[in-house]
Amino acid sequence: MTNNSKKVLELLRKYESRNITFIDPDGSFPIIWEQAKGVFVIDIEGKKFLDLTAAFGVAAAGHSNPQVVLAAQRQLKKLPHAMGDVHPHKLKALLAAKLSELTFERWTNNEHGKTIFCNSGFESVEAALKTAILATKRRTVIAFKGAYHGLGYGALNATYRDYFKKPFLPQLGLFSHFAQFPTTETEFKKTKQELPDLCKKVKPGAILVEPVQGRGGIRVPHPEFLPLLRDVCNSIGAVLIVDEVYTGFGRTGKWFGCEHFNTIPDIICLGKALTGGFPLSACVGKASLMDSAWEETRGEAIHTSTFLGNPVGCAMALANIREIEQKNLVNHSAELGTKLREKLDELKSPSEKLKMLPRGLGLMAGVEFIYNGKPAADFVFKIVKEMLRRGIIVLPEGDCGNVLSFTPPLIIKWGQLSAAIDELQDVINTINQQ
Ligand SMILES: Cc1ncc(COP(=O)(O)O)c(C=O)c1O
Repeated sequence: MTNNSKKVLELLRKYESRNITFIDPDGSFPIIWEQAKGVFVIDIEGKKFLDLTAAFGVAAAGHSNPQVVLAAQRQLKKLPHAMGDVHPHKLKALLAAKLSELTFERWTNNEHGKTIFCNSGFESVEAALKTAILATKRRTVIAFKGAYHGLGYGALNATYRDYFKKPFLPQLGLFSHFAQFPTTETEFKKTKQELPDLCKKVKPGAILVEPVQGRGGIRVPHPEFLPLLRDVCNSIGAVLIVDEVYTGFGRTGKWFGCEHFNTIPDIICLGKALTGGFPLSACVGKASLMDSAWEETRGEAIHTSTFLGNPVGCAMALANIREIEQKNLVNHSAELGTKLREKLDELKSPSEKLKMLPRGLGLMAGVEFIYNGKPAADFVFKIVKEMLRRGIIVLPEGDCGNVLSFTPPLIIKWGQLSAAIDELQDVINTINQQ
């Protein structure tokens, strides 16, 4: 690490709050990003990295995608900010219509979607939760073990891990009940039996689910799980909310993860890859539900924010979606996802004690590491650091941090991905010998 990096980290240590940027005392983590283009990131020292995270899945159409950057620059010159819920701008209307076209209009013959724009992923979840209570007048929500819906005071109630919630419990409403997120046949059968009883007991106004759990450790549910949730919601008049903040926009090899399970939600939450790099998110609900939940505003909206539907974000989202469409990135994600999965399945464990369990959908893949029957979080973090040293960015996921995840920009080429997994095999072998 040179003085450039050290200076930045010193400033952060002094002026940024604690508990945000993790700085490893051994100097191996993090790197300081300076530029990013396509699938590559250049750090402040001029070193080039292959990014297998797409920066939390955001850069689906590639970092600094030229069309997205151009759209942002043009919009920034013309109108960087309008008035959230008061005087709107045209792009907000166009983007709401585009999101409707991509979701409910593609899924159904007779419904369109209506959007509440927000700034970050957790806010889109909170807008969905507000919609559900308005529509059903019921307070309770069923969410799932392992779920991650963000850390705002509303969404946090539905995020599973105590790690995030514990210090704030005295101020949380705790309106969520957590059911099993079944990945196996046995777990699914149990869930199918228990869910109706749980619903009778807690009378949920909404069921909130990720089609694939991302931060929970790239967990793909049993194929009949989402259809089951749809049936349950239909039978008790609850709102089915799919949180596609991570899985949306081709990440899993379909436009939206719920499409793998032929399940049409009532509300879909979108963020991350929506813009390719601007804090804009969206809660898109079917129009009939949105209209039954939200009254016409009488001049002062009961849900809004200063930057709601920011014009630069909307311009970037429209350009970004066009890129995903024109470059056929959804199909590319599906094709490369299949190859990636095959390659991950071929990874060889250097020791009988080390088990590696690959899984995923499309370009949302992960490998769980178990050592001696226990989650191998330390091993995974050593991999993350060694891969970084060798010029490849990967991240750990999962409640125990023992899942290595792969969510590269969807524009990645097979040669790049394949070479990175070869490198991973070498890193696993090397660390195991240490
Ligand atoms: C499924 C899901 N929902 C919500 C969020 C929260 O999004 P944000 O961090 O933009 O608030 C995340 C973030 O990782 C996520 O993966």
